[in-house]
Amino acid sequence: MNTSSRVSTDIDAASSILTHGGIVAIPTETVYGLAAIALNETAVGRVFSTKGRPTSHPLIVHLSPNDDYGRWGVLNEAATSIAAAIWPGPITLLVPRTRLVPDWVTGGRDTVALRVPAHDMTLSLLKQLGDAVVAPSANRFGQVSPTRAEHVLADLGEDVDLILDGGPCEIGIESTIIECTSNNLQILRPGKITAVHIAEITGLQLAHTDGPSRAPGMMIAHYAPKARVELCASLAEASEKNSHYKNGGISSCIVHHEDPAEYALSVYDDLRAADTQGAEVVLAVMPPDHGIGKAIRDRLTKAAAG
Ligand code: TXA
Ligand code: MG
Repeated sequence: MNTSSRVSTDIDAASSILTHGGIVAIPTETVYGLAAIALNETAVGRVFSTKGRPTSHPLIVHLSPNDDYGRWGVLNEAATSIAAAIWPGPITLLVPRTRLVPDWVTGGRDTVALRVPAHDMTLSLLKQLGDAVVAPSANRFGQVSPTRAEHVLADLGEDVDLILDGGPCEIGIESTIIECTSNNLQILRPGKITAVHIAEITGLQLAHTDGPSRAPGMMIAHYAPKARVELCASLAEASEKNSHYKNGGISSCIVHHEDPAEYALSVYDDLRAADTQGAEVVLAVMPPDHGIGKAIRDRLTKAAAG
């Protein structure tokens, strides 16, 4: 239970704070975001400074399903099909921006990232606002993304005006980012929605994109807890290393779930728990390299580079 007055379920209060140029942490189906009205330069500036994020790293514009997406970006046929099939849902479309979109959102790029999040509370908020918000994950730059209101409170505390508590996030890792600036679709950040889903929706084959995610600002070290993260190919390997560390007087713990969806849901929580318990080493078991497992592997690889 949260006792802080900053944590609330009051959508009217959140709407009023945003309208007056404040910043509010909002729940989504993926992770919590730190929202400000996209067209308010000062408010968006506060999002960057609160996160400690360089202003050259562009932000995702979050829209309501009632919005005219074409005001913000130019959606080609593939992007339109993906939006129709998945929004509200965990996909971010990278498309050419319109003249409405300010440089302070895109870091001066000619593309904009758009997404309609699937969370009832945030959808009500967006509808009430009638204005789009930017929302990067509500953590300090480079650290572990928040999947509960308590995580945001622990990370950002007094620096946000309100934390809208929509309960634990349903998916637990960030949206898939797909570049739709041509018919050569490319996944820049893996997530729950995979290349297989996109190919089914659009009828287009996606370029082969293995390796770490390539969206700007997603540097090699990211999503990192304070503990050192070591990647393990199997639970057996992690268990063996765990005993080895314990025998050597080093506090270590294992992060692993058999079910990939369950793993995605709890991976950030588990990394945070490792820090809370004062673990020096996290032994993270890599899930199989398909489905949402690809996204978990991406985040763990970056956490290990931290
Ligand atoms: O699930 C999500 O997408 C969450 C929730 C809160 O919606 N948001 C999120 O935002 O993960 P953030 O800022 O932590 O990650 C957004 C990524 C960054 O790596 C950024 O560089 C990339 O999207 N991005 C945004 N706009 C872009 C653009 N115009 N061109 C290329 N990459 C862009
Ligand atoms: Mg982030």
